Amino acid sequence: MNLSRYFVRKPMATIIAESSNQDLKRSLNALNLVSLGIGCIIGAGIFVLTGQAAAQYAGPAIILSFILSGLACTFAALCYAELASVLPVSGSAYTYAYATLGESVAWAMGWLLILEYGLASATVAVGWSGYVVSFLKDFGLIIPHELAQPYFDLVTDPANPGKMILAATGHFNLPAFLGIMGVTTLLVIGISESAKVNNFIVMVKLTVVALFIIIGAFYVNPSNWHPFIPDNIGPGRYGFDGILKAAGVIFFAYIGFEAVSTAAQESQNPQRDMPIGILGSLAICTILYMLVAGVLTGIVPYKELNVADPMAVAIDRINIAWLTIGSWRLLPMLIKLGAVMGLSSVMLVLVYGQTRIFYMMGKDGLIPAIFCKLHTKFKTPYINTIIVGVVVAIAAGFTPISVLGNLVSMGTLFAFCIVCFSVMFLRWTHPELKRTFKTPFMPVVPILGILACGYLIFGIGKDIFIALRYYFLAGVLVYFLYGQFNSKIAKAAKVIE
Ligand code: ALA
Repeated sequence: MNLSRYFVRKPMATIIAESSNQDLKRSLNALNLVSLGIGCIIGAGIFVLTGQAAAQYAGPAIILSFILSGLACTFAALCYAELASVLPVSGSAYTYAYATLGESVAWAMGWLLILEYGLASATVAVGWSGYVVSFLKDFGLIIPHELAQPYFDLVTDPANPGKMILAATGHFNLPAFLGIMGVTTLLVIGISESAKVNNFIVMVKLTVVALFIIIGAFYVNPSNWHPFIPDNIGPGRYGFDGILKAAGVIFFAYIGFEAVSTAAQESQNPQRDMPIGILGSLAICTILYMLVAGVLTGIVPYKELNVADPMAVAIDRINIAWLTIGSWRLLPMLIKLGAVMGLSSVMLVLVYGQTRIFYMMGKDGLIPAIFCKLHTKFKTPYINTIIVGVVVAIAAGFTPISVLGNLVSMGTLFAFCIVCFSVMFLRWTHPELKRTFKTPFMPVVPILGILACGYLIFGIGKDIFIALRYYFLAGVLVYFLYGQFNSKIAKAAKVIE
């Protein structure tokens, strides 16, 4: 058996030719890049998972979890920036892996990115649903509990509070399902976000988060922060173990900064602006996240935050008379509306990202060509989009946000490890390539990135690792039954017929 066949690489010339076809204008400055990053980063992580992770794992020390998680992202981000400046192509980390480590690793990367984008959009949809239900309730429209909850969820074991177990909670999360179907329809007819819409949504999200922090700060009861690190009561349940577990869970909140790296080719001055864009958006989000976490756990005792709309719950506790008209309390309604709008755009970007990864993999022959078929009128990969939309919508309808979010975090952390490794490998095999941005302190930064991401993977826990292993096995099966026989790169390199 010719094993080298599994490591066939996509030639640099092909990648550079593909990227030169794009002929993109260099129009983005540092501020645009920071805005792009924030637009993709702020989502269900801060609006939903922060409260749940504080309630279940870290207590008020969730603030420390944000620092740990932010550090791991910073190392990975610096590696992404270099790869993006050498290979500024769509397909992102999948293409980087194909060019550097070869086909089987590229396949694994593509398979992980399906988790990152596909399941992340389901996660965000569940978060979006929580705020939609809460917002509609303010207008007297009640969605029955069974139709706004997944079939099962992670809950504290009544017989052993140190343990979390899966228990039946509802029937189907209908709003989450409908949200994804709505986004899918928009993508099939070809509406993707423009820079103007992105800037507007970023402003809405930042305003909502800033309002929450500034107004909420006046209503913090410091006694809610004691104990800051609650005593450990079981694996991953509070104490240092819990801080680590929560760091893995809320890692989800940082996902999206990679989007900045994919804009390298459109950046006016990549060497200077890419690190500003990536590190700037990460730094701003880290500070905002820590402040939100502090205010949230300061207003509401952390144990009460395991709900679908934690920020709304906190703001509901504040009664501001002049912001109340009859039975309408304007501040909570504003926060909920902002969350609904902000989360919609993240859903759209993630489903879009997923369809484009399938599109690239289809072009390379690793999945069937049907994923590349364009609609005659809309010119969008409509079959691909419909398949992604339906699968994601069903996942969003049946699965709880905790399980979805953890799977996404672990899959993405693995993908980041491969990115850190790729950047070292490419420096070694192709030192001659022009790098408009170089990861500093080589190879210390990528090695620290691999260690930090590995540490967070470890923190998320064994159960999710087992689930991921089955997902991975399914991927291996698809590759061996289909991808390896149809790979266009392998055919061109004459390693298969
Ligand atoms: N970081 C994004 C979110 O929190 C994916 O929704």
